[in-house]
Amino acid sequence: MKVAIHGCGYVGLVTGACLADVGNTVTAVDVDAERVTRLNAGETPIYEPGLEALLRANLDAGRLRFTIDPEEAVAAAETQFICVGTPPREDGAADLKYVIKVADVIGRHMEDYRLVVTKSTVPVGTADAVAGAMKKALDGRQVAYDVASNPEFLKEGDAVNDFMKPDRIVVGTNSTRAEGILRELYAPFNRNHDRVLVMDVRSAELTKYAANAMLATRISFMNEMAGIAERVGANIENVRQGIGSDPRIGWSFIYPGCGYGGSCFPKDVRAVEQTARQEGLEPQILRAVDEVNTRQKGVLFEKIATHFGDDLKGRTIAVWGLSFKPNTDDMREAPSRVLIDSLLKAGALVRAHDPEAIRVAEGIFDGEKNVTLLEDPMEAAKGADALVIVTEWKAYRSPDWVRLRKCLNEPVVVDGRNLFEPETVREAGLVYYSIGRAPVRP
Ligand SMILES: NC(=O)c1ccc[n+]([C@@H]2O[C@H](COP(=O)([O-])OP(=O)(O)OC[C@H]3O[C@@H](n4cnc5c(N)ncnc54)[C@H](O)[C@@H]3O)[C@@H](O)[C@H]2O)c1
Repeated sequence: MKVAIHGCGYVGLVTGACLADVGNTVTAVDVDAERVTRLNAGETPIYEPGLEALLRANLDAGRLRFTIDPEEAVAAAETQFICVGTPPREDGAADLKYVIKVADVIGRHMEDYRLVVTKSTVPVGTADAVAGAMKKALDGRQVAYDVASNPEFLKEGDAVNDFMKPDRIVVGTNSTRAEGILRELYAPFNRNHDRVLVMDVRSAELTKYAANAMLATRISFMNEMAGIAERVGANIENVRQGIGSDPRIGWSFIYPGCGYGGSCFPKDVRAVEQTARQEGLEPQILRAVDEVNTRQKGVLFEKIATHFGDDLKGRTIAVWGLSFKPNTDDMREAPSRVLIDSLLKAGALVRAHDPEAIRVAEGIFDGEKNVTLLEDPMEAAKGADALVIVTEWKAYRSPDWVRLRKCLNEPVVVDGRNLFEPETVREAGLVYYSIGRAPVRP
């Protein structure tokens, strides 16, 4: 089949590469010319395990190509995926200007039937807005089209795998023609049992927000429990095991930490909150989930500040982990950014390491003389008054404690991901603060 993808970010690239890999011919378009040039040379602008190899194989096979010309993409395929960003507006609602721009371009250039599929995360009612924009752009020309919703559930860091082996494929449409095309397109990913859930468009649009809001709720719930555990002298890791073993609760997304980040959970929780408000319903749970998360992102700074008697001026703090989670270089809304901003405001110097996000961090902290980015975690710890672990990269899980103790100027570790047994850190001669557990001292 022939497919066009509008937007070559995390979602568009993975969708394009995976659809090409099963034999489709994919034309992917982006407005960013530099990105398109790099992609046609087989270079991914983002770090996502397995993606670059997949891109190169499919570029070489001639099944995948990138262009900056949307007209070419509209002409190339019957099925047009919209995968552009839907960033938050000032009030938290999703900004649909990129989505509508694509709808307009498709409407203007299409000569015969097109199926337009929104894969971007979009508020309920967007499919109607897309159809409206296309109708306007068609300007009286009689060309048939359908608009379907097909929200994407991939996780950054494991995106290729998630796309190739989806838990479910949600298709929102009331058109049998659209359903038929999408069933055929997804058949290679749907062989073992039927994962396609066909529903009305509005339910499909809301399903994506409900999924992210539920996951974010679990995280905020555990972070609130961790705060209670610290105050009452309980150990949140014991509590986690005590509840995760209940099959009604399960083990996923109940890790306490320093708050969720990324390009999805924060913006999607706020966007569905706004949807509720627009409809006259005050979203009490969603509001609390967001507020708890904002508070949790400040917890690491509070622990360091308290340790040093609220005086961090001239102190050097090492930070391990900048991306919002492991196996990605994405730093959008990452807890590390809140921590580093607070440290800088308090007059501290930061030495930071991340296995993949250094290049992204260079752009973010460009010109900030009090942030030094290092390629080696022990180098980052050298001469620091405390080490803070913000992202649970595998490379941080088993440090050389003797070397780390020697590197640090003062023996303080603040662990935002509960990577270690407190006893291990204490035996290494370090003061250890973690989340939802009592601090330990040598
Ligand atoms: N990142 C994720 O893990 C993830 C997962 C599921 C869903 N989503 C949703 O998918 C959507 C895209 O997310 P992303 O992380 O891939 O975004 P991204 O910011 O990484 O990529 C968006 C791309 O669209 C391009 N673009 C903007 N306007 C364009 C236009 N008119 N025509 C062509 N290209 C255009 C941008 O240049 C950019 O390369 C969002 O709605 C997001 O919420 C993201």
